[in-house]
Amino acid sequence: CGIVGYIGYREAYPIVIKGLKRLEYRGYDSAGVMLYDGNDLKLCKTKGKVSDLEEKASKETTTNGTIGMGHTRWATHGVPNDVNSHPHVSNSGDLAIIHNGIIENYAPLKEELIKRGYVFHSDTDTEVLVNLIEEIQKKENLRLGKAVQVALNQVFGAYAIAVFDKKNPDEIVVARLGSPLAIGIGEGEYFIASDASPFIEYTSNAVYLEDGEMANIRLHKPMKVRKIKDDSLVDPYIQELQMNLEQIEKGGYDHFMLKEIYEQPNVIRDTYRGRLHANEGIIQMSGVEDNLEKFLNAERIIIVACGTSWHAGLVAEYIFEEFARIPVEVEYASEFRYRNPIIGTRDVVIAISQSGETADTMAAIKLAKEKGAFVYGVCNVVGSSISRETHAGTHTHAGPEIGVASTKAFTTQITVLTMIALRLAKAKGTLSNTDYHRYLQELEIIPEKVKEALETNDRAKEIASVFKDSHNCLYLGRGYNFPVALEGALKLKEISYIHAEGYPAAEMKHGPIALIDAQMPVVIIAPKQGHYDKIVSNIQEIKSRSGIIIAVVTKGDTQVRELADYIIEIPETSDALSPLITTIPLQLLSYHIAVMRGCNVDQPRNLAKSVTVE
Ligand code: G6P
Repeated sequence: CGIVGYIGYREAYPIVIKGLKRLEYRGYDSAGVMLYDGNDLKLCKTKGKVSDLEEKASKETTTNGTIGMGHTRWATHGVPNDVNSHPHVSNSGDLAIIHNGIIENYAPLKEELIKRGYVFHSDTDTEVLVNLIEEIQKKENLRLGKAVQVALNQVFGAYAIAVFDKKNPDEIVVARLGSPLAIGIGEGEYFIASDASPFIEYTSNAVYLEDGEMANIRLHKPMKVRKIKDDSLVDPYIQELQMNLEQIEKGGYDHFMLKEIYEQPNVIRDTYRGRLHANEGIIQMSGVEDNLEKFLNAERIIIVACGTSWHAGLVAEYIFEEFARIPVEVEYASEFRYRNPIIGTRDVVIAISQSGETADTMAAIKLAKEKGAFVYGVCNVVGSSISRETHAGTHTHAGPEIGVASTKAFTTQITVLTMIALRLAKAKGTLSNTDYHRYLQELEIIPEKVKEALETNDRAKEIASVFKDSHNCLYLGRGYNFPVALEGALKLKEISYIHAEGYPAAEMKHGPIALIDAQMPVVIIAPKQGHYDKIVSNIQEIKSRSGIIIAVVTKGDTQVRELADYIIEIPETSDALSPLITTIPLQLLSYHIAVMRGCNVDQPRNLAKSVTVE
């Protein structure tokens, strides 16, 4: 979910609505806004997107007021409908709350409140929290901040909340545990949001609350931050924001996803800039340099991640083992955290996350730290929870990724992981000098090749028009490109709702081959380097069962061209770096298929970009 709040001298409504649109990547099952106009709380909520909310609000007179809060929801407790949408209001009608996260012990609290006469209108855990705050406030005659604090000490779970009390309308109280919360500080105004994007045009000063902290935000007063547990005051660290407006707008592209696909040559370069010095044969990342011994002594590297980041981890497994000869295991963070994993003090855990907020990945990190492992982060969002929780790390410099389907985050993650593997290989002497230098040179020119691979756009569009009505699709690859097959299938599933599966090409004969018939498109990644001959045999196996083949091949390929129904040609590169190139046409293919099917590419159904609940 995404939350936004404003308290100041401007009209809050347009700020909140625009902010919600920027946070829609966090969920768009429903949306709502609350405004305070000096007398009354006004609420407008609806199932659907922020644009639906705008339409509904324009018909009702709810848009005045210089204090406002808004919410865009990814449903956890209760179906997405108007009633379950936030903000939620307490029984007296005085308090309003917006909440991102889950209150796990809401059921017993709710029962208790019902006994005391409280009535609930929604199925949400959030409505329980706001009434709990009200009950505490009444019983103990407390101001809002204190009541929120007492209430939070009674709940378990995760939250970023903002609460407003009509009886003291010059303040908003916010708190965080496990879900992100940024506060923008302007002159005579404050902004609250799940990330800084809603307020970057108003202020570049922000405070990111730490877990377990709360803040009283009062008009014309300095903000007070304290620890929820023991009430001790904290000196807030005011950060200067680096983000600019252009980075979070579409810049002439139809969708963020397409813009982000096209940004890849630049952001890969941004990611290695200052770190990779190919001519000098140097790779330098401060996080790795400062902890080189830990990496070199590692008995094992365990990679934890979710979704597309997990696929980047799989690519890294092949690269680390090949280059640095360190055994690697790649784990879904959600599985790892719940299965009593064996972790030792000589294990290095690498957590990969675009958002740096994924709840399961965060929990896996905490577990690994408890067991004494050294935990390294590869995150895109600076200041995110994961970048702060890990012992050290390297940021990918992809810039804000807004399309739900991850594209540039994936390739920049692979870039960072490849650099780490190369750095370790150099220190360990596990790559020959020639190979080491060759890979550095190759990585340096990869952005040019990615640019060339983007020229497959028209071809991808043509092929998309043929297969847009397919019901199933199989993606195959071997070696470094097996994870790319998984990622290609995930992209298609996520945004076009076509069922797709990724498989190691050779494994096909142990099951998926049964699916192949004349209706089944099979996307097969078959670059010249790698296990080319083996892939050619796999293609023949598909052909002899009348499957339709779409092959991604190296420019100038002749053998696969003869066998495949459709080919997409990409520039040649080394096997290990090929995922950075082969993935591009697959991104474009799913993009065009989704557009042609009329799907909402940037905001596919049921998904959220940043999953801050487990
Ligand atoms: C969600 C997103 C995916 C992403 C995954 C992991 O499911 O929709 O695109 O790969 O979370 O997110 P992270 O921010 O940790 O990389």
